[in-house]
Amino acid sequence: MPEPVLEVIPTGAALGAEVRRVDLARELPDAVMASIRQAFDRHAVLRFRDQRLTVEQLLAFGRRLGPLDPTEPGAYGGRHDLARYPDLMIVSNVVEDGVAVGALGDGELKWHSDMSNWRVPPWATMLYAVEVPEQGGDTSFASMYAALAELTTAQRARISGRNAWSDGTLDARGKPIPNPVSAEHPLIARHPFSGRDLLYPGRRWNGYVVGMPRAESNVLLDELWALATEPRFVWTQSWRRGDLILWDNLATLHQRSTFDPHARRVLWRLQLTGRPIPEA
Ligand code: OGA
Ligand code: MN
Repeated sequence: MPEPVLEVIPTGAALGAEVRRVDLARELPDAVMASIRQAFDRHAVLRFRDQRLTVEQLLAFGRRLGPLDPTEPGAYGGRHDLARYPDLMIVSNVVEDGVAVGALGDGELKWHSDMSNWRVPPWATMLYAVEVPEQGGDTSFASMYAALAELTTAQRARISGRNAWSDGTLDARGKPIPNPVSAEHPLIARHPFSGRDLLYPGRRWNGYVVGMPRAESNVLLDELWALATEPRFVWTQSWRRGDLILWDNLATLHQRSTFDPHARRVLWRLQLTGRPIPEA
C-alpha cells in the first residue's frame, strides 16, 4: 500500500501547524520523519490529532527525533509513575489511594519554557493526551522567534550580550522543587538546532538579568515578558483525547489555563535532549 502523503496545515497564528494523515503508532519511513522535522523547524509547535499510542509507541516516535532526557524523579514534585520507563513523565492531577499519579497537578501554569534552569535545557517537549477535561486546561504557546523580531532597537540593545538567570527553586505553579538547580542563558540566543535567532527569557519568577541592578532588571523583564506573551504571538491548544503536541522548547514559551480540579487530566510527556544555547 502506498504511504499516505502527510499534510501540514498552519494554524494561521504566529506559530503552530497541524500534521494530518500520519499514524504515529507506525514506524514511519525516513522521508516522513524528514517532513515532520522540516515542519517542526518552521512552525515550532506541531499538533497530531486522533492518535492511539502505547507508551512504547510514543517513546519510539520521540527517539526518531533524537535522544530523550531521562526524567528526574520528583523534579516536578510528582511521583514518577510507570517507573519502568525512565524517559517518560506523567502530567496529571489524578490522585489514586492518596498518591499523585503524575506531576504538575491542577491549576494554572505560568508562562515558562521547560527546564531553562538546567545548563542544557531540552530542545523539545511532547505531550500526549490520555484523558482530558471537557473544557479548560488549555495549553498556549508563544513564538520567541516572533517576539525577538518585534523588540525595539532600544530593547534589543539593553539585552544584547546579557544572560537571564533561570531560577529552579519554584515550578510554574509557584510550588517548591526539591534539590533545585539554576542556570543562566543568553537572552538573545541562536537556536542550536534551527540556527534561527530568538528571545530566550526562560523563567520569570526570581529571574533577573545577570549583572543588572535588580530594580532595573525587574522593570525590563516585566516589559519583555509582557511583549513576548502578547496574543499576536500566541496559539492555544484545546485538548482532545488522542492529541499529541510537539513543541520547540527553546523557540516558544507555554502556559496552562485552569480546569476543574475534579476532572481527570492525564498526559504522557517526554523531553528531547538539547544542546548548549549559544548567544546570537
Ligand atoms: C509541561 C507543561 C502543560 C500542560 O508538561 O511542561 O507545561 O498543559 N504542561 O499540562
Ligand atoms: Mn512546561
